[in-house]
Amino acid sequence: MTGSIRRMGIIGVGNVGSAAAFSVIHQGICEELTLVDIKKEKAIGEAIDFADSIGFLSSRTKVKSGELLDLKDCDVILISVAGEPLKPGETRLDLLKGTSAIIKDIIPPLKEAGFNGIYVVATNPCDVITYLTWKLSGLPRNQVIGTGTALDSSRFRKLLSEHLHVDSRSITAYMLGEHGESQFGAWSHVSVGGKPIREYIEDHKENIEAFNFDELSEHAKREGWNVFNRKGKTEYGIGNALAFIAKSILNDAYTVSPVSAVLVGEYGQNDLAIGVPGILCREGLKQVIELDLDEKEQALFKNSASVIKDNIASVKL
Ligand code: LAC
Repeated sequence: MTGSIRRMGIIGVGNVGSAAAFSVIHQGICEELTLVDIKKEKAIGEAIDFADSIGFLSSRTKVKSGELLDLKDCDVILISVAGEPLKPGETRLDLLKGTSAIIKDIIPPLKEAGFNGIYVVATNPCDVITYLTWKLSGLPRNQVIGTGTALDSSRFRKLLSEHLHVDSRSITAYMLGEHGESQFGAWSHVSVGGKPIREYIEDHKENIEAFNFDELSEHAKREGWNVFNRKGKTEYGIGNALAFIAKSILNDAYTVSPVSAVLVGEYGQNDLAIGVPGILCREGLKQVIELDLDEKEQALFKNSASVIKDNIASVKL
């Protein structure tokens, strides 16, 4: 942190970057926010629009547009660049060719300029792009974090909340692995008020209608598509996930959240970024929380890791 002024940048102010900026200024997460986009006029227009709105808000974020290297002293940079939009039938992995090329253009100049803050990456395929950002940035792994399965886990808790009639923020539940098709619900660690889910249901069965566990976590995984197939994009969920992670970092909050983290032996994995619970503070990722997964979950995690690794291997750095 460079001082009392918390500086944030957003690279890519399309739907996701703008939603993140909206969330950041409404929550007063930083004092200064600089928007950068390859379409310079778009970034200028967004910055003016946001600046115009500050008079209605309870905090006074200074919003401006700028060039990439204007972000070199930021405490946190959110990466929400997008390549070509997805075509019908494609998955997030199909975006890799386009988005990895953009990442290769933006991270090395910031490295050269001495950027030493924290990157939070939402660009898809998120785990692969997080890993590439880490590699290209030369930063320690705690300074490069992806949104990973933060949003999928929020979707999971939302669906659980509807069945269990408990606020989603009072439910611990993680979607783990790739922010993509190979993610899975870690049912062995779902709990409500400290009670494991199966015991909780048993205790409250008069209020809870029976539901199928596999179907529910499958629904959580599909929920991104349920948005995308209807509105052609997803923005508010991921925008808020980005802002939440940035807030946890800048407030030195020691928040536990699923994120895409570079693993150094945790979960038996190395040399990739993947969705796991982590502790977030001013240093970025303080620690990865290593859950004791059951056998089925371990196999699913391994499979998800191999999907990410295959995609990492397909990119020439
Ligand atoms: C989603 C996008 C961010 O899941 O991948 O909404």
